[in-house]
Amino acid sequence: MEDKNIKQRQFWSGAGGDVWVNKQREMDIMLNPLGDRVIERLDLKSDAKIIDIGCGCGATTLEIAKKITQGEILGVDISEPMLDKAAETAREMSLSNISFEVKDVQVDVMPQNYFDVAFSRFGVMFFEDPFEAFKNIHSSLKEDGLLSFVCWQNASLNPWQSLSIQVIKEFLDLPAPAPKSPGPFAFEDKTYLEEILRESGFKGLEILDNQEDIVMFSGKSIREACEDYLTINPVVTEMLKNSKPELTEEILEALVIKFSNFHQNDGLLFPSATWIVTAKK
Ligand SMILES: C[S@@+](CC[C@H](N)C(=O)[O-])C[C@H]1O[C@@H](n2cnc3c(N)ncnc32)[C@H](O)[C@@H]1O
Repeated sequence: MEDKNIKQRQFWSGAGGDVWVNKQREMDIMLNPLGDRVIERLDLKSDAKIIDIGCGCGATTLEIAKKITQGEILGVDISEPMLDKAAETAREMSLSNISFEVKDVQVDVMPQNYFDVAFSRFGVMFFEDPFEAFKNIHSSLKEDGLLSFVCWQNASLNPWQSLSIQVIKEFLDLPAPAPKSPGPFAFEDKTYLEEILRESGFKGLEILDNQEDIVMFSGKSIREACEDYLTINPVVTEMLKNSKPELTEEILEALVIKFSNFHQNDGLLFPSATWIVTAKK
């Protein structure tokens, strides 16, 4: 494999991927409603061919597979542990119209003019070169194919991110990640997102503003939720990678205080803002 996206591969196929596998239930409780905003807008034909980009542990791949009984869905991801988990669940559910492949969507060859829909729940913001990646996605779609995904808006509208970065910066003199760099907030700027999609050949762009509360780390105490948070977020883990355990503990304690206003019986309840994106080939 090439060196492109190497940091992301190290995170998602390394410690980050393992944490996502272990916390899959909590992550799905948080992300399912947001993925559903996209899925409910897709007019899925029962024989559709679909690709789920950055499918992770496969929650959406499995959900869509159940809707397209005569069709097929391919889940692709760079994370081997997450794909192993996804494939294991598909076997347990005896779903035969689903497959998973390790693929870097920016770099690897994709089937050409093949899919009716390219779907993603938060799996398309991690490319070093999003223009290259979206051109690749574009060429994998049939002539009347559809791209549809959900991604985060600006961190200031997603306080779990902005507040945690604020806390970390009180302890570590680090620059915040550069705007547009690969990570959860790469597409916060709608104009940049439009530019990527247009330059990759997409037409008929629709980018909807979706704001709703989300439950993070359902059922966890405030401390457990903050511990999980510090290991699951690729931006945060990158900032903390050289921090000594005592300092990480201090940051954790400060985060517990900062997040405590958002903690309820059911975990952390945060406002969120996402873009619900659809575009035509
Ligand atoms: C935030 S997670 C979302 C996972 C899953 N879609 C979900 O909603 O639970 C982002 C996913 O994108 C994957 N990813 C990152 N860069 C990728 C790339 N270049 N090609 C394919 N997948 C990638 C990661 O491995 C990870 O599984």
